[in-house]
Amino acid sequence: MRILMVCLGNICRSPMAEGILRSEITKRKLTHVVDSAGTGNWHSGEAPDRRAIATAKKFGVDISKLVARQIDRGDLESFDKIFVMDLANYDAVLRLTRNAEEKAKVELFLNQVNPGQDEEVPDPWFGEADGFIPVYKMLETACTNFLNTIEKIHQS
Ligand code: 4NP
Repeated sequence: MRILMVCLGNICRSPMAEGILRSEITKRKLTHVVDSAGTGNWHSGEAPDRRAIATAKKFGVDISKLVARQIDRGDLESFDKIFVMDLANYDAVLRLTRNAEEKAKVELFLNQVNPGQDEEVPDPWFGEADGFIPVYKMLETACTNFLNTIEKIHQS
């Protein structure tokens, strides 16, 4: 399966989600492919925010080499699952979709934690560095739940 994590800038939430999911996939000896992108292009070409890098490092995940990019139409075709961090991202990605099959790929990531609640991953960019920890933890829970779910589906 190919999974794309999407936020606004692709320098805080989605690169942390990408790093966590890839690390968990490796630990479980799975072969899923993960990438991330932003709905905006202001940070394209940049490394993740230093607070995101430091937070992930604290939990043993290296995201320092990731490079921000903007989501494009091709992503809607090439990825199987597109997880968005908040409702603004959801609307922006839906506008790129061309058919029901592509629309069905797009889902709020925290629905992996509280299904159907449409909760948002708060944007930590404007806050203090310690705001990144709770964001990291919720991303980690969502990643674990998602992998548990798809592993169960493949076993049955
Ligand atoms: P992200 O955070 O969407 O989690 O990467 C942000 C990063 C940059 C900006 C907004 C959110 N910005 O406005 O530049």
